Amino acid sequence: MRYSKNIWHPCSQMKDYETFKPLHIVRASGCYLELANGKKIIDATSSWWCKSLGHQHPRLKAALLQQADRFEHVIFANTTNDKIIALSNKLTSLMPSLKKVFYAGDGSCAVEIAMKMSLHARKILQEPQRKKFITLSNAYHGETVGAMSVSDLGLYSEPYTAMLFDTVVISSIPYVSHQNAALWSNCDAYWEQIEKQLLPWAETATAILVEPILQGAGGMKIYSQDFLKRLRAWASLHHVHLIADEIMTGIGRTGKMLACEHAGIEPDFLCLGKGLTSGWMSFSAVLTMETIYDLFYDDYETGKSFLHSHTFSGHALGAAIAFEVLAIMEEEKLCERAVLLGAHMYESMLAVANETGQLTNVRGIGAMVAADLVSADPSRRLGYEVFQKAVDLGALLRPLGNTIYWLLPLNAEMGVVDELRGITIGAIASLVPSLRRRGARSEQE
Ligand SMILES: Cc1ncc(COP(=O)(O)O)c(C=O)c1O
Repeated sequence: MRYSKNIWHPCSQMKDYETFKPLHIVRASGCYLELANGKKIIDATSSWWCKSLGHQHPRLKAALLQQADRFEHVIFANTTNDKIIALSNKLTSLMPSLKKVFYAGDGSCAVEIAMKMSLHARKILQEPQRKKFITLSNAYHGETVGAMSVSDLGLYSEPYTAMLFDTVVISSIPYVSHQNAALWSNCDAYWEQIEKQLLPWAETATAILVEPILQGAGGMKIYSQDFLKRLRAWASLHHVHLIADEIMTGIGRTGKMLACEHAGIEPDFLCLGKGLTSGWMSFSAVLTMETIYDLFYDDYETGKSFLHSHTFSGHALGAAIAFEVLAIMEEEKLCERAVLLGAHMYESMLAVANETGQLTNVRGIGAMVAADLVSADPSRRLGYEVFQKAVDLGALLRPLGNTIYWLLPLNAEMGVVDELRGITIGAIASLVPSLRRRGARSEQE
């Protein structure tokens, strides 16, 4: 059987599946997915941004099997093991002040853990007035209620408004298309307007949440590192926590191990997921400072314990794989590799824009490049049409609305980018009659 009507797929209008059936995957390797009909297609967005080392990495498979041979998962309250100790040592060496790590099962939960820790710290500090969360426009932090509340994408959260809480949304974000942009290193022109929005909350905010440097679901938007630096300074000055949600940006995606490094800052809380296990396990982590941890450290009777208790916290298979991911990142210098790959991706997306004339706002950082389709007809789901054509031509290129982007594994071969460029041009061109004519002419020439 190639399709089951019993399944409700994520992030989908199921009616679409009547005319465009789910792709039936039988195998995957590196950047490629193999379909039941034998066709191989490029996984151009790394399976919702998590396959940072590609599919079926032999070392990650070996790490998984080796751990499975010993034990797969044991309750992580009151137990420990060699792998999680080794992993925790590595994670807490990523940033000098983030010395404590708490484990969770997925990205949304990691974000909520950081939020709970921030709020709980306020209770311990007897600062009950500090309960507001501040977030950025176009933010996305996940799908659970708290994570949705601090996100700014009505598309995902509007029907659930009744169960969300109010947050402060900061607008006028200084977006850039590239690190060479002047705004990247100086956002003076924007800061006054931003500070005006922040100031009323200086005494009542508990934390500011950011996707550092690169906002993913909000449309692959890149912002000024100077803005992040100023936000950190403002938060410190007013004793507001900074929560860096690096679920998507962390572990090399932006060309640095952590996107916060672009601004030379350290957050109070750092959330990691997705690429932490290169998508092998649902496994995430929250790193924080000793000063925060110490607030909770007391006799049980004082009621200060952080009693968050997910079944899969510290999953041993996830820990074994995450440890190996970090080893591979280091040995193969994959942050540097992401920068090289990204430069080629950026040039290639520019070529797609030039060739088709249908893309605007080409932007990129690390191994991510994006551009927006110029759509004259707002009723047309152009991004979705490009996605369907791209599958025919050989790539799973799931867009964000009309934003087309490539987010390949950090270790992808340059040739995959070339292939993707051809496929993207073909997919866009096939939808634009004038381009189709131009394509036909150049074939004859
Ligand atoms: C920045 C960010 N935070 C949180 C999440 C939620 O992660 P998960 O889907 O693992 O819950 C995502 C997922 O795309 C994300 O991009």
